[in-house]
Amino acid sequence: MKILYAGSEALPFAASGGLGDVLGSLPAAIKEKYPDADVRVVMPLYGSVSDEYRRDMKRECETTVRLAWRTQYCGIYSYEYKGVTFYFIDNEYYFKRPSLYGSFDDGERFAFFGRAILDLMHRVDFFPDVLHCNDWQTASAVLYLRTLYGGDGRYRAVKAVYTIHNIEYQGVYGTEILGDVFGLGTNVRGVVEYDGDINLTKSAIVCADAVTTVSPHYAEEIQTEFYSHGLYHVLRLYKDKLSGIINGIDFDYYNPETDSEIAKNFSAKAYSGKHECKTELHRIMWLEENPDTPIVAMISRLVKHKCVDLVERVIEEYLGDDVQFVVLGTGDYAYEEFFTNLSHRYPSKVAVSLQFNKSLSKKIYAGADMFLMPSQSEPCGLSQMIASRYGAVAIVRETGGLSDSITPYNEFTNEGIGFTFSNYNAHDMLYTMRYATSVYRDKKRWTSLMRRAMKTDFSWGASAEKYMSLYEGLIG
Ligand code: GLC
Repeated sequence: MKILYAGSEALPFAASGGLGDVLGSLPAAIKEKYPDADVRVVMPLYGSVSDEYRRDMKRECETTVRLAWRTQYCGIYSYEYKGVTFYFIDNEYYFKRPSLYGSFDDGERFAFFGRAILDLMHRVDFFPDVLHCNDWQTASAVLYLRTLYGGDGRYRAVKAVYTIHNIEYQGVYGTEILGDVFGLGTNVRGVVEYDGDINLTKSAIVCADAVTTVSPHYAEEIQTEFYSHGLYHVLRLYKDKLSGIINGIDFDYYNPETDSEIAKNFSAKAYSGKHECKTELHRIMWLEENPDTPIVAMISRLVKHKCVDLVERVIEEYLGDDVQFVVLGTGDYAYEEFFTNLSHRYPSKVAVSLQFNKSLSKKIYAGADMFLMPSQSEPCGLSQMIASRYGAVAIVRETGGLSDSITPYNEFTNEGIGFTFSNYNAHDMLYTMRYATSVYRDKKRWTSLMRRAMKTDFSWGASAEKYMSLYEGLIG
């Protein structure tokens, strides 16, 4: 089986969120489970990809890519990582920018990437059985595969899987760029247009052989108006090819037993090291050192759909209790300012760090007792799984992957691994947080809950099998 994964980010090379985690770990997990599979990944060579990797990259070839009337330089480099070949598409004009996304010409940048993905197959002579594209930045590759490249039998034989990591970002542009940038004729308007615009996600849903999203719950949710950001008509129409497969996390990278970035290693069996991690967290975040006060952590982009507004509404009521609160993340200015103010007003109880910092995040997972993630919508979510593995018991809203990964604590049967609430309501959340703190005060019950969370299998194993059987089903 030959599989080519395509995506706009992958760890350890470049990432801005969960997509990077997935593309940095799923291909390797497939390779580990199915050593005969030929697994490769293609992504842009951003200016930010470090020299550490660039130094050892092999130059495969230099070529050009056509984009309507443009002919653009395209270098192809490769790098072996964990048994997987990563291809990097080089074009400094498109990819040497201060950030991965958010340029005025993102449509053109990723149209270029889409064509480069398909040209790569021919240039390096690797025609996969399955091309697995991820999110709107690669949607155009699926579209091109079935349009401009459809006349060539080598491309026609490639099956396309398209994964939606977040339906909120669809790649929507004015129709005027269909010919001028994408180089496509008006005959494809039915495939790419939606509500009067070009919608790349829609085109990939229509053209792909299978569409997946990152949890079974989210696959149901995006067929409804509330969650779909307008696309539910299309998703309902193509629901026969839609399924949800939950993400795993990189169990080697996120392992409190071996993690060198935390104060003391620990595991579900020998968990005393977690106390030292808590003390370290008190120190680095300048919190009052009290080992019996629960620390609740939030590591998130500070934006509305992560439910920051719910937190804003009730956090002061909660801070009346004997608790401490730690926030790590960046986002909307108003929320950043709110949390900064809060930490100035409650310096012994609240610590806020406005940054995206992997190393600090691990120290927080390891030192915190609880992890708050009350998202309004959450396709999968990885933080709740990482937190569980590091013994920070998750408090989540029942949506998307949060529902699929965190089973609620049942005090009668002593089952479940976290705390959940269903309504998008600040006081429902507060009630759940207070319930969690009350369980925390009972050391015996808490320890058994925490150890159960730590032992939960969030590795890629089961999901890698699901992807493989999906691929096998497609190629018959
Ligand atoms: C997106 C989603 C997140 C998911 C990640 C990886 O960032 O918002 O829920 O975990 O993609 O699939």
